[in-house]
Amino acid sequence: MRRSLIVGNWKLHCTVVEAIALANSIRLAVGDPGSREVVIAPPFTAIYAVRGVICGTPIGLAAQDAHWEERGAFTGAVSPGLLHDVGCRYAILGHSERREHFAETDAAVARKLRAALAAGLSPILCVGERTAERDQGRAQTVVSRQLATALAGVAPETLPMVAIAYEPVWAIGTGIAAGTDDAAAMADHIRGRLAAGWGDAAGRARILYGGSVNPGNAGDFLRQDTLDGALVGGASLNADSFAAIVKAAP
Ligand code: 13P
Repeated sequence: MRRSLIVGNWKLHCTVVEAIALANSIRLAVGDPGSREVVIAPPFTAIYAVRGVICGTPIGLAAQDAHWEERGAFTGAVSPGLLHDVGCRYAILGHSERREHFAETDAAVARKLRAALAAGLSPILCVGERTAERDQGRAQTVVSRQLATALAGVAPETLPMVAIAYEPVWAIGTGIAAGTDDAAAMADHIRGRLAAGWGDAAGRARILYGGSVNPGNAGDFLRQDTLDGALVGGASLNADSFAAIVKAAP
C-alpha cells in the first residue's frame, strides 16, 4: 500500500560539475526502480543542474531544508515556493544537523513544515534522539515531542504527504546503525502517535529509517513491514552503493 521511498541526502557535498556526474551515475545505476520512489537531495546550488540530468526519469528532487516564509527580507534563506519552482517535490526538514549546528527548534521545524505543505512540497520530517536521551530511556518521549510540535495543525487528509524519517543522532555518519529491532520499534511508536492524532491517515504516511544505512544493512531495515524506506547520507554519494540500497527495498 505504501510505496518504498529511498532518499539520498548529499548534505554539503558536490560542486555543480560533481553533482551532474553523480546524478548521471545514479540515473544509470538505478535504472528502472519499479514501484520504488527514488529521490536525491543535492545542495541548493546544484538543484537546477541536477534537474536537467534526471528530467524524464523516475528520480525525484528534494531540498535539504526550506525556510518558513515565501519571500521578503530573509537574507540567505530559500523558500518552499522557490524550491518547487526549481523542480523539488520534497524538502527534508528538521534534520538533526540543522537542529544541532543551526539551533533549529521544534517550533521552527513546525513553521517550515506548514510552509512546505502550502507550497506543494512533501516534507521529509526528521526526528530522532541523541545518545544521552536514549541512555536515559527517553528516546520515545523525545520523538513524540518532535512529532507533536512539527505536525500540530496538519489536517488528516494532508498527513500522508509527510514522510517521517527516524534518524537517531548517534547513528548518523558514525557507521553504527541502529539495530533493526530498535528501528522497527521506534517506527511502531511513531505510527502509534500518528494514529492517535490523525486516525486512519496514519496508515498512509511513510516512515523511513536513516543513520549509517549502507548496501550491507539496507535489506535488514527495508524488509521490516513497519519501515517504508531509508534516508541515506554517506552511501548516497556513491552511485553503486545508492543503487544497491534502492534495490534492497521491496
Ligand atoms: P549517514 O547515512 O551518512 O549516516 O547519514 C544519515 C543522514 O543523516 C541522512 O539524512
